[in-house]
Amino acid sequence: MTRKLFVTTALPYANGPFHIGHIMEYIQADIWVRLQRMLGHEVNFVCADDAHGAPIMIAAEKAGRTPQQFVAAVAAGRRQYLDGFHISFDHWHSTDAPENHALAQGIYRALRANDLIDVRTIEQFYDPDKGMFLPDRFIKGECPRCGAKDQYGDNCEVCGAVYQPTELKHPYSALSGATPVLRSSEHFFFRLSDPRCVAYLQDWTQDGRLQPEVANKVREWFQPGPDGKPLLGDWDISRDAPYFGIEIPDAPGKYFYVWLDAPIGYLASLTAWFAKNGWDVDAYLADPALEQIHFIGKDIVTFHTLFWPATLHFSGRKAPDRVWVHGHLTVSGEKMSKSRGTGISPLRYLEIGMNAEWLRYYIAAKLNARVEDLDFNPDDFVARVNSDLVGKYVNIASRAAGFLAKRFGGETSADVGVEGRALLDGLRAHADAVRELYDEREYGKALREVMLLADRVNEYVDRAKPWDLARQPGMDTALHDVCTVCIEAFRVLTVYLKPVLPALAAAVEQFLRIAPLSWADAQRALGRQHIGTYRHLMQRVEPRQLDALFEPAPAAAAPACAPAPAAAAQALPGGEALPGGEALAAEIGIADFAKVDLRIARIVAAEPVEGSTKLLRLTLDAGEGRLRNVFSGIAGALAPEQIVGRLTVLVANLAPRKMKFGVSEGMVLSAGHADDKAHPGLYLLEPAPGAAPGLRVR
Ligand code: MSP
Ligand code: ZN
Repeated sequence: MTRKLFVTTALPYANGPFHIGHIMEYIQADIWVRLQRMLGHEVNFVCADDAHGAPIMIAAEKAGRTPQQFVAAVAAGRRQYLDGFHISFDHWHSTDAPENHALAQGIYRALRANDLIDVRTIEQFYDPDKGMFLPDRFIKGECPRCGAKDQYGDNCEVCGAVYQPTELKHPYSALSGATPVLRSSEHFFFRLSDPRCVAYLQDWTQDGRLQPEVANKVREWFQPGPDGKPLLGDWDISRDAPYFGIEIPDAPGKYFYVWLDAPIGYLASLTAWFAKNGWDVDAYLADPALEQIHFIGKDIVTFHTLFWPATLHFSGRKAPDRVWVHGHLTVSGEKMSKSRGTGISPLRYLEIGMNAEWLRYYIAAKLNARVEDLDFNPDDFVARVNSDLVGKYVNIASRAAGFLAKRFGGETSADVGVEGRALLDGLRAHADAVRELYDEREYGKALREVMLLADRVNEYVDRAKPWDLARQPGMDTALHDVCTVCIEAFRVLTVYLKPVLPALAAAVEQFLRIAPLSWADAQRALGRQHIGTYRHLMQRVEPRQLDALFEPAPAAAAPACAPAPAAAAQALPGGEALPGGEALAAEIGIADFAKVDLRIARIVAAEPVEGSTKLLRLTLDAGEGRLRNVFSGIAGALAPEQIVGRLTVLVANLAPRKMKFGVSEGMVLSAGHADDKAHPGLYLLEPAPGAAPGLRVR
């Protein structure tokens, strides 16, 4: 029976480029999806940017952009990663797209009609300077338990205490520094404590559809709390303006909390994908045979196993069939930060020419169906890729291809001897076992199985010694058989590895001149076939590539809002070339850069400073209706008359600095070599003609 599969991965926050943890999740899901497609099942595999929420709104503001511009810039950077790692999403969407607005509002209306929405007045911290209610993570203060300073509004990183933001001592707004005030406001609640919801969720979470450890964890929500009722409480689904989100119908100034509309984005993406193809999405979702499957990480289980199924079910929709939870990727044993990532930049990985399929293989080899963290260890990576993937599998083709080309005109034989046939039958007999392991997301076990089969093939070659046969007269048929067995075995193993190594499989298909391999092709014989010229299918990993991967590389980890760095910039031998005489400074995010306010300014006057050989006193007009006084250390290189009247770039929000000669109100930009003795020359920055004082440089 053909399975109908609607598969998603979690929607990444559109606040920055992908980190390696995202890529890991996509690789896990992609392998599963590719297996299902090879089996002939129908899959719709979609994802989207999670665009909404206060953090993104605030990040956009800091970057001087609208939230829409901000998330569009992030979205524009997605393609290169997805293509680069061979992630085969059918569609990528955004939770800010019209489909999601319509779906979220419709679902809310249905919940309201089902008497599951409550309106209650709650008290919350409000930033009087910014004019907005503060999310917990934007409130800081002293820990009520240990007194540690600068702790977040919900927990203390020093002593681990968990508390309400209102319990903080000396609270302040992380946005403005202002002391927040308590204000009341009406909030909308999804009444998850309603007995209908509790009963439904208890059943849904405990009926065997979830991984056992996930079901156990979720069960805690149904335990009685201090008041005797289940811990699962009502869910606050509204936020007050200003908020980047979807408006709540009939409630001006109220928006859905981002986690209400985010998973609805799965449906929005599917809807857009179906519309693009002219298909009927409602009929598809109504099909009882449809399996809806979400791949997610362990940090977002509650949203996906309580809030999301309830949201769907009580709005009259189909709830997920499976929520498959994976652990987190660590790098050399270190956790990565959720927003920043660490360790490995996926883009740098690609740009220094590392093969995406090495990573796919390595991650797959370490994955299982449980919620276990998975560590990227550089030495282990090199060992597994080189010894298993290249040494065992790719090697098989290279051992046979040369003889076939030179001695048999590139043709395999129609049949092979008894031993060869037994070997191939043995490989084919494992198709179901390998398929099942992939299907259960036991990729590590599946690959171990495949590598054991590869071992068998290599042992066969070692016994048959084609290199000896080639030197003995009259052994042509035997040699031809051995080479044919190798090629045929290689083809079967390629079927088994194709979900993990799609690009390599495509290269093999081209080499063997065969149609794209499906799972069933493992059972079919290649027979007599004129194959193509063998080109080395996969290089070994060089340990120095891992050194390059872990070197700080500012350009490779470019913020999403910047254009991707040109590949050429990466070609510099790591660490050797020091353009301008100094290494690049530590990486910053776009938000760091956005803090610097650069303005065009005209140098109205310039004069030497008595008592200083280095400084010039500049009088600058930055279009502010007043003039600024700036001391600049350019006297050694530039004479006042060279620069008076010119436009340049001013760091306009630099804190004023008291100097011996007066207060300096900013800084002008010029370029020069780090070693200015060996490389004198200072070049004042000048904008292109037409720029005017006051324009911001970004
Ligand atoms: N936007 C929410 C998800 C909404 S789904 C309707 C979110 N975004 S996220 O960008 O923070 O995370 C996206 C996915 O990446 C989550 O499944 C998360 O678990 C996963 N990962 C984040 N860090 C990870 C690792 N270090 N390792 C593996 N997956 C990781 O949460
Ligand atoms: Zn504390």
